[in-house]
Amino acid sequence: MRILVTGGAGFIGSEYVRMLLGRPGADAARAPATAVTVLDKLTYSGNPANLDPVRHDPRLRFVHGDIGDATLVDDVVPDHDVIVHFAAESHVDRSITGAAPFVTTNVLGTQTLLDAALRHRTGRFVHVSTDEVYGSIESGSWTEDWPLAPNSPYSASKAGSDLLALAYHRTHGLDVVVTRCSNNYGPYQFPEKVVPLFVTNLLDGGTVPLYGDGGNVRDWLHVHDHCRGIALVQEKGRAGEVYHIGGGTELTNRELTGKLLAACGAGWDRVVPVTDRKGHDRRYSLDITKIETELGYAPSIDLDHGLAETVRWYRENRAWWEPLKAAHG
Ligand SMILES: NC(=O)c1ccc[n+]([C@@H]2O[C@H](COP(=O)([O-])OP(=O)(O)OC[C@H]3O[C@@H](n4cnc5c(N)ncnc54)[C@H](O)[C@@H]3O)[C@@H](O)[C@H]2O)c1
Repeated sequence: MRILVTGGAGFIGSEYVRMLLGRPGADAARAPATAVTVLDKLTYSGNPANLDPVRHDPRLRFVHGDIGDATLVDDVVPDHDVIVHFAAESHVDRSITGAAPFVTTNVLGTQTLLDAALRHRTGRFVHVSTDEVYGSIESGSWTEDWPLAPNSPYSASKAGSDLLALAYHRTHGLDVVVTRCSNNYGPYQFPEKVVPLFVTNLLDGGTVPLYGDGGNVRDWLHVHDHCRGIALVQEKGRAGEVYHIGGGTELTNRELTGKLLAACGAGWDRVVPVTDRKGHDRRYSLDITKIETELGYAPSIDLDHGLAETVRWYRENRAWWEPLKAAHG
């Protein structure tokens, strides 16, 4: 099985690569990989160090490049059985200050990849997406057939790419599967996202910014459980279908903050309320019945245990995040 992983130097993509190549201590990948190619532009959030645990694996090849570069993509895509597409601009706040790279990478980049997959008859295209494409839900949970109503430029660009991917299945018969996941946490997450931002600020003795009234609700899933779900969909998902991955724990931002403060041994005096994010979605909630019943998925990492392990990882890996905060903080 030859697998092309776009965005494989990012937070989730690198976990997928480490999992596929069976890094020591991790679950072995469900579908054995004979070769893994990472195609990554190494934007501010892409980091070759994320692949250090598998750097010397002879099955890994790294290609530095842009998914929107049609010539390069045409060169890289042949000879792969599967494409797992993570590459994206992924931070909502950045999409509010500048949407252009989101449209360029998330929409046009995805289309460039889809065209290459079609031309070179790639066996399967796994498009990795987010619950944010549905907008916000007051009560209940979204099922996979729920209408898309994205509110941020980030989620709108992801919704555009989801629809394109599904259209290539319906129009051209490309073997596309789409996953939509809730909020991820875990090691190697760029320290602009709430969990690593809060943890690294607290470990440095600083304060943490809490948006608005802190009442926005997210479902938190460990990145490894997300990747286990993607592997199942890659292996056994039905072509043309969307699968939700979630089932972690729904928390308000205030509740999450309380857990992170406790895990870092800090008090509420370290929390600074800040003006709410523009257009901030109130609540996300995914119904994951489909992946549970069809593919036998269940999350495996309890939130409190996962958060404690994550805090421990950031505590023990300052050499990974300190340069990132110094350069981008
Ligand atoms: N983080 C979450 O909680 C979450 C939840 C659900 C879905 N997702 C989706 O999962 C995917 C990965 O998210 P992440 O959190 O790992 O993001 P990330 O920002 O950590 O990683 C993105 C990676 O893509 C690369 N990249 C960006 N533009 C590129 C381009 N034009 N060409 C090639 N590579 C490019 C970056 O260098 C980086 O390595 C995204 O598609 C995101 O929408 C994320």
